[in-house]
Amino acid sequence: MDEYIIKGGKSLSGEVSVGGAKNAALCILAAAIMTDDTVTLTNLPDLSDVSIVLESMEQIGANIIRTNEHCVKINAANIYNCTIDNEEISNIRGSYYLLGALLGKYKKAQVPLPGGCSIGSRPIDQHLKGFKALGADIKIEHGMIKAQADTLKGCHIYFDMITVGATINLMLAACLAEGETVLENSAKEPYVVDTANFLNSLGANVKGAGTSTIRIKGVKQLKGNEYSIIPDYMEAATFMIAAAATKGNVLVKNIIPKHLEAISAKLCEMGVTIQEIDNALRVIAQAPLKAVPVNTLPYPGFPTDMQPQITTLLTLAEGASIVNETIFEDRFRYTKELYKMSADIRVEGNTAIVSGSNHLTGAVVNAPDLRAGAALVIAGLVAEGFTTVKDIHYIERGYEGFEIKLQQLGADIIKVDSKNEREIQKAKLKLG
Ligand code: EPU
Repeated sequence: MDEYIIKGGKSLSGEVSVGGAKNAALCILAAAIMTDDTVTLTNLPDLSDVSIVLESMEQIGANIIRTNEHCVKINAANIYNCTIDNEEISNIRGSYYLLGALLGKYKKAQVPLPGGCSIGSRPIDQHLKGFKALGADIKIEHGMIKAQADTLKGCHIYFDMITVGATINLMLAACLAEGETVLENSAKEPYVVDTANFLNSLGANVKGAGTSTIRIKGVKQLKGNEYSIIPDYMEAATFMIAAAATKGNVLVKNIIPKHLEAISAKLCEMGVTIQEIDNALRVIAQAPLKAVPVNTLPYPGFPTDMQPQITTLLTLAEGASIVNETIFEDRFRYTKELYKMSADIRVEGNTAIVSGSNHLTGAVVNAPDLRAGAALVIAGLVAEGFTTVKDIHYIERGYEGFEIKLQQLGADIIKVDSKNEREIQKAKLKLG
């Protein structure tokens, strides 16, 4: 197991280039098996979840050629099996997109119940309700979701809550259904729009992605194409918050600034300067940080995936802030780790009251999930002394070369093998 050793205190400065969006890649990879023609995907992030999905697709007969770490060619003409069953796929969330894609194309699919970060109960009732409405028979047996249909027929689906996963999954299946499907109360996240754009580039007929009503007219088949995945606005936002926390001056490049409006607005409210330069944002943090309220909301609101990072930033602000988590019911577990670093955060239900102090101290902490792990790294970058962040495999699920990009911005962070005491001592000596 690897861990990060961080020596806090350095301001981040320089430029960082953001990779492709993990959460868009997972949907688009699944969508790529809906055509028998070859699909080429570029700006693919080189992450473990991506590799797991590609390996699972290969196991059922798809031909996968990784031309380089950020580009893959997929040909699914020879898929011979619609059952995906391996331990690794059951650990990730995006596995459920293979259900929508296989059901849409082959009218049958079996996929393990999804895993993913432990941030709440995360039911999939809306996905299953939608597949049933399209005419599929759904069973959950032996840990597997089993879906089958004679034909899929377009229908009207109203989601009970805004859900990114179900919106995309239904969009996938409906693309090859007979007639028109209308999805109401749909999620508007850029991942939804990117998947719709990709499907349309293959010849699908999806209209309204990015609004709450999405209309999908089923087509007989999809063709191949080359497509570039959108930049990861969660990776970008994490670097923006890291820059603000360390009183840095960082240019975050290769992004779509519009996707980051909620983050930019909140950082401005806190006293951070944000300059938009084409497809980049410069973050300059010189003034003292101000306390602000934060409510997580579906896009275009403040994203739940940035809640741990902004909460960490608020521990450095002057005054008390209230953070309301409205999407997931168990996304404050990391605050116990921040407590070890002298943060003053009181959690009551889905609300955290953060008393800013401007002083964190290094400690040994465990990353409980992907985004919280990134937040603990940010805390380590500003804390006095050394911080060890353990269980970084969670962080590596969503951030490609995280410590390398931080090192390039001047951070004192080294990845070490947690069992190798000599390596750890050497890293600490090197960091001074
Ligand atoms: N929900 C249901 N029933 C459903 C589906 C969702 O009750 O059938 C609830 C969830 O429990 C949650 C809310 O609806 O309370 C929103 O869930 P959503 O479906 O939007 O989330 P998701 O598809 O499970 C994706 C991302 C998450 C991100 C959320 C919200 C992937 C693989 N995961 O999850 O990303 O937090 O959307 O934007 O795309 C991450 O990247 O760290 C991460 C957790």
